[in-house]
Amino acid sequence: MNTVVQLEDVDVYYGNLQALSNITLNIEALDFLGIIGPNGGGKSTLLKLIAGLVKPSSGKAWVLGSPPCHTPGKIGYVPQRFNLNREFPFSVVETILTGRLTKNNLFLHRYTDKDILAVDEIMRTLGIYDLKDRQIGQLSGGQMQRALIARALVMEPEILLLDEPTACLDAGSKSQIYSILKDLNQYMTIIMVSHDMGVISSYVKSLACLNMDIFYHGVPELTDTLLGQVYGCPVELIAHGVPHRVLPHHPEEPNA
Ligand SMILES: Nc1ncnc2c1ncn2[C@@H]1O[C@H](COP(=O)(O)OP(=O)(O)OP(=O)(O)O)[C@@H](O)[C@H]1O
Ligand SMILES: [Mg+2]
Repeated sequence: MNTVVQLEDVDVYYGNLQALSNITLNIEALDFLGIIGPNGGGKSTLLKLIAGLVKPSSGKAWVLGSPPCHTPGKIGYVPQRFNLNREFPFSVVETILTGRLTKNNLFLHRYTDKDILAVDEIMRTLGIYDLKDRQIGQLSGGQMQRALIARALVMEPEILLLDEPTACLDAGSKSQIYSILKDLNQYMTIIMVSHDMGVISSYVKSLACLNMDIFYHGVPELTDTLLGQVYGCPVELIAHGVPHRVLPHHPEEPNA
């Protein structure tokens, strides 16, 4: 097995606030890992850690055998939010082209014909070619999500990180995106945060439940009853850390 992400006893703090605690997690090449958990549970923080955008406060992290921020062009990241001023002076095509930039070619990079062709192709795949000249800040929520996915994919990354990528998409668009992800997963490792349980149970190969620490990592064994228990409990109970059973085989429970 080829481990592409290796986290060992990782803690992440924002000032005094602890977002991740004692995370130990190995992710294998070509996995399609779904991450679920309550709001504020650290899901986005975990993706940012893998993308090299936040640093471990303690513990060790490797991505493709290097520290996370040393993987230029190998990680595609679709953030949960991308707030832009409506007047932001970039078109859709210009924004997606920035996905071809890495830390190593950021300065004085002139886009090549190859860059332009790659962007055209990905825009067609994601059904946003007609929007190419629109100002990026003026897209609708679903159009923006497609543009962000296109920007993450245009470098053909080895690992794709998606933070609730279909939250704004209608049902038809969702299944279109998931069928694209399924194809990509033949040669790309995918790590995706989602609250969409239908997607989790039908597309992912493995599942991680995160609530500051990882309390389940394994096969996506979700049933209706269990889902009710994950998201059916009042949020304030989850936020206060009251134990709630999520999956039938919980490794930390004595009777599991
Ligand atoms: N930049 C930041 N500065 C300070 N605290 C932060 C920052 N980003 C996140 N946090 C806090 O860290 C915790 C984890 O946040 P994170 O965004 O990782 O949660 P999440 O699981 O993605 O939640 P959601 O489901 O709402 O997206 C939360 O308590 C949040 O308020
Ligand atoms: Mg989040």
